[in-house]
Amino acid sequence: MYLITGATGPIGRPLVETLLAEGAAVRAVSRDPSAAGLPAGADVVEGDPRKPETLSFQGVSALFVHPRAVGEEAVGRLLAAAAEQGVRRVVVMSAINVEDEPAHQPSRFNGDRNKEVEEAVVQGPLPWVSVRPASFALNTLAMWAGQIRAGDVVRGPYADFAEAFVHERDVAELIARALRDETLDGRRLPVTGPGSLTHAEAVTAIGEVLGRPLRHEEIPAEAAARAMAGSGGLPEPFVQALMARYARGEGRPATVAGPGARTFEQWVTDHAAAFGGEGR
Ligand SMILES: NC(=O)c1ccc[n+]([C@@H]2O[C@H](COP(=O)([O-])OP(=O)(O)OC[C@H]3O[C@@H](n4cnc5c(N)ncnc54)[C@H](OP(=O)(O)O)[C@@H]3O)[C@@H](O)[C@H]2O)c1
Repeated sequence: MYLITGATGPIGRPLVETLLAEGAAVRAVSRDPSAAGLPAGADVVEGDPRKPETLSFQGVSALFVHPRAVGEEAVGRLLAAAAEQGVRRVVVMSAINVEDEPAHQPSRFNGDRNKEVEEAVVQGPLPWVSVRPASFALNTLAMWAGQIRAGDVVRGPYADFAEAFVHERDVAELIARALRDETLDGRRLPVTGPGSLTHAEAVTAIGEVLGRPLRHEEIPAEAAARAMAGSGGLPEPFVQALMARYARGEGRPATVAGPGARTFEQWVTDHAAAFGGEGR
C-alpha cells in the first residue's frame, strides 16, 4: 500500500490514477475527503500532512511526500512517524531548479520549500528517491489561457525564454515508478518534457493545436512585472524572482533531461478546453 500526500492536486491526482491502474493499493490523504473527487478504488482518508499525528501508516510500504502539502516544518516528524510504523521507503517531489540561487526560484516566494523538504528526506530514516520536475506545462494555463480565450495575441515578457514543459502525467508516472522500484533508491531524478520551447514557440504550438493563428508579442519586463503584481494579483517578490529567472536564462535552451515523453502539443490537446478549444 502506498500513502500519497498532496493527492488532490495536479500531480497527486494522476499519481493516484496511475497507481490504481497498475493494481496497487492507495491511501490518499486529503484535509477534506468529501471534496477530493478521487477514483473509487482509492482509500481516501482525512488527514493533514502538516500534522503527522493525523495520519496512520499501518500497512503502508512506501510514502509519497508532496513538498507543499507536507512543508518544511512537519517533514521530519512525518518521516519519523512513518519509519516507526513500518514504512520502508519514501519518494519526495522536489524541482529541477532546487540548486539554483534562491532569488531565481519564484516558488520560494510562494512559501514552497522544495530544497529543504528534499534535504530532510535525504537525511531522514528511510531509503529515498527524489523526483525533480521541470516547469509544469500546466503553468501555461495561468500564464496565457485568459489572453488566448480573448484573442489571438499573447502579450508577455521574454519571448525567447525556453522551458522543457513537462506533462503532469509524466511526473506522476515517474513518481509511481519510484514508489515501486527500490533500485532507484538514493537517486535524484529530473523529469522534463521531450523538447525545449521558447515562450513564443509554445504560444505558436498552442495555436497549432487549437487551429488558431496565435502569436506571442513581447512586452518589456518592467511593464509585465507591473501588470502581474497589479491586476494579476501576484506577490511582488514572486514576480521579481520570476523576472530574474527569465533574465538569466533568456536565449538559452532549457535542459531536456527526460524521461517525460509527452510533447507539449500532446499536453495542449489534453487541455484544449481550458484554452477555449475543443476538449477531449
Ligand atoms: N509549477 C511548477 O512548474 C513546479 C515545478 C516543479 C515543482 N513544483 C512544486 O510542486 C509543488 C506544487 O505541486 P501541486 O501543484 O501539486 O500542489 P497543490 O495542488 O497546491 O497541492 C496539492 C495538494 O496538497 C494539499 N495542500 C496544499 N497546501 C497545503 C497546506 N498548506 N497544508 C496541507 N495540505 C496542503 C491540498 O490537498 P487537500 O486540500 O486535499 O488536503 C492540495 O490539493 C510545489 O512545491 C512546487 O514548488 C512546481
